[in-house]
Amino acid sequence: ANRIFSGIQPTGNLHLGNYLGAIRNWVTLQDDFESIYCVVDLHAVTVPQDPAQLRNSTREVTASLIASGISPERSILFNQSRVPQHAQLAWIFNCVARLGWLNRMTQFKEKAGKNREQASVGLYSYPILMAADILTYKATHVPVGEDQKQHLELTRDIAQAFNSHYEVDCFPLPEPQIFGSATRVMSLRDGSSKMSKSDMSELSRINLTDDNDTIAAKIRKAKTDADALPSEAAGLAGRPEAENLVGIYAAMASMTVDDVLREFGGRGFGDFKPALAALAVDQLAPIGARMRELLENPDELDAILDDGAVRAEAIARPILAEVHEIVGFLGMP
Ligand code: TYM
Repeated sequence: ANRIFSGIQPTGNLHLGNYLGAIRNWVTLQDDFESIYCVVDLHAVTVPQDPAQLRNSTREVTASLIASGISPERSILFNQSRVPQHAQLAWIFNCVARLGWLNRMTQFKEKAGKNREQASVGLYSYPILMAADILTYKATHVPVGEDQKQHLELTRDIAQAFNSHYEVDCFPLPEPQIFGSATRVMSLRDGSSKMSKSDMSELSRINLTDDNDTIAAKIRKAKTDADALPSEAAGLAGRPEAENLVGIYAAMASMTVDDVLREFGGRGFGDFKPALAALAVDQLAPIGARMRELLENPDELDAILDDGAVRAEAIARPILAEVHEIVGFLGMP
């Protein structure tokens, strides 16, 4: 049977890239599949975190997910550290994955930067914990943005290596699900870099918590070229900022890029930006409002995460028991 798993880090504000690249797809998938969505606090501590801030962010991200339409009844929604099987399986996978595989991971190179000797060992083995997240549930499908593709290839390599080393058919090879018109949302200030939580410029991203005026102002100030929009997608080649804004519009309006250009082709950004801003406000304002409401009752959010963790662990525990048996550990975990 198909099972969906995906995760998101509780580090700071969620932005439009998280929403269009991942969360919106999670919401769609939960109607048709058993879905497990995880706030990955173990991943967050691969870089230094303030404890109070981490607690806050975990609740904020949980509230954003619910406000965006994740149903904590239909889906399983929980924070990673509550289910010990993730870390347990990660250890076993640490012993399956090869140094050479991890040395190829581009995200580690970006995140560790020049001072690699000072990066935590956890940051290095981050993708192994990701593989454990997914395979602790034998998940078959993983909806993510484009930037997680390499990590999912590693997950498949680990699943395959485990199965073949122990001559078992234990783990599925999970399929990445990267779909929609906004699988890689770019910075509003620079069409060649990804929209991200860590960008120094607030103008580079739209946060799910931004108020209407802020959303409109950020879109007004977004970098563009001076030309009119083309009338079909091919005309966006070599125009990364234009391509990004049209992709965002298409994703939010649930249209194809060609449909958007059929409507706006030949018109300039003076026409397009206000339309994009109106659409963004229309979609994001209710999410922000609902999120603020949910955050007024932190105890309720904690109870939702508790319930999710219990349900998640009920799936994970027998799978870990099976893995221990395969590996040759005595007794049941
Ligand atoms: P994270 O927290 O960085 O991002 C959460 C999701 O948002 C997507 N995303 C984007 N999509 C399009 N454009 C962007 N600019 C953009 N920025 C972020 C990400 O692709 C992701 O889907 N390692 C993961 C979390 C994780 C996970 C997992 C995911 C931990 N374990 C297991 C899937 C399965 C991460 O840091 O996502």
